[in-house]
Amino acid sequence: MRELKGLILSGGRGTRLRPITHTSAKQLVPVANKPVLFYGIEAMAAAGIEEVGIIVAPETGDEIRAAADDGSQFGVRITYIEQDAPLGLAHAVLTAEPFLGESPFVMYLGDNLLQGGITELVAAFRNHEPDALILLTAVPDPENYGVAELRDGAVVRLVEKPGEPQTDLALVGVYMFTPVVHDAARAISPSDRGELEITDAIQHLVDGGRRVEPHIVKGWWKDTGRLEDILEANRLVLDTIQSRVDGELVDAQIGGRVVIEPGARLERSSVRGPAVVGAGARLVDAYIGPYTAVGPRCVIENAEVENSILLEGASVRGLAGRMESSLLGRNVTVGRDHRQPRAYRFMVGDNSEIGIL
Ligand code: G1P
Repeated sequence: MRELKGLILSGGRGTRLRPITHTSAKQLVPVANKPVLFYGIEAMAAAGIEEVGIIVAPETGDEIRAAADDGSQFGVRITYIEQDAPLGLAHAVLTAEPFLGESPFVMYLGDNLLQGGITELVAAFRNHEPDALILLTAVPDPENYGVAELRDGAVVRLVEKPGEPQTDLALVGVYMFTPVVHDAARAISPSDRGELEITDAIQHLVDGGRRVEPHIVKGWWKDTGRLEDILEANRLVLDTIQSRVDGELVDAQIGGRVVIEPGARLERSSVRGPAVVGAGARLVDAYIGPYTAVGPRCVIENAEVENSILLEGASVRGLAGRMESSLLGRNVTVGRDHRQPRAYRFMVGDNSEIGIL
C-alpha cells in the first residue's frame, strides 16, 4: 500500500455551539486546554502519517491556519484546503482530491475525539487492505448519526440520521479510504439536508461489491458538537492527565490530578482535580472543583467553579453560588457588582444561554 495521507475536516458552521462559534471555529474549542483539532493531528502523527490536509471553511480558515501552522509542532506537514461551502463530508473529500491523489487516506472529523488514537486501526487498514474501513460504536441516540447494519460481521447498510434506526451502531467520525471513494463521492446525490453524505458514498461502495471493513471501537469516542459533549470530552481527557505544578502556590491547596501551568498564581485557593489551570491564570480566594479547565490568563476571584471550561482571558468574580457545567468564551467576564439598583446586568452575544440560581 502507498503511504497513507491524513485528511482532517475542520470546516462546518458549529451551529450547536453558538455563540462560541460565532467568533471561533468549533474545532478550536479547547478540551483540557488543548484545541480539539490538535488531538486529531496528534493521533495521525502517532500513527506515522506525515502529510495531513486540513479542510477549512472560508470564515474560520485563517484562525485554524494560525493555530496549527505548518504542522511542524506535531511532526507532520499540513496543507490547507478551502471548501467554499459546507456541502457535506463527501464533498470535502472531492475538494481534497488534488491533495489526496492516488493515496489511501485516513479521514478524521476535526471535532471528534477518539480514545486510544488510530494507530492500531491504521495498522489493520494496511494489513487487511480493504477498500474502506469504518469505525462503529453503540450510542443511545443513533438517530443523530450515520447508522450501520451488519450481517455476519459485514456491513450491509448505512443510513445517515435515520428516523427509525435499525441498530444503535453509530458511524464514528474517523474513516479510512482507498482512492475508490472519489468515484463513489461523485456518484451520489445530495441528501435531504443538501449535503453529499460520506455515509451514502460508503453505501455506494458496499453496493458496488467493494470491501468495507467495520471495526467496533473499544475506548470512548466523542463528537464534540454540543456543549454537553465538550464538557464530557473535557472530563474524559482530564481523567488521564499527569499531575504537574509549574505555577506559584501561595497559601493554596491542590489535590488529585492537577496541572498548574507556568506563570499561573494561586492565592488562598484550592483546586480539586482533575483540573488544569492555564499559563498566567490568577486564582484568588477561589475554589476549582473537579473537571474544570481554566484557560490561560483567566482570573477567578472569590468564586467557585466546577465541571467547566473557561477559554483564554475569561474571568469569574464574586459569585454567591458555585458556577458549574459552563463554557465561557474568550475574555468573557462573569461577576457580581454592587451598583444600585440591585439587578442582573448582561451583555451577551446571540444564542447565548444563561442559567440563574
Ligand atoms: C457526521 C456524519 C455522521 C457521523 C458523525 C460522527 O455527522 O454525517 O454519519 O456519524 O459525523 O460525528 P454530522 O456531524 O455532520 O451531523
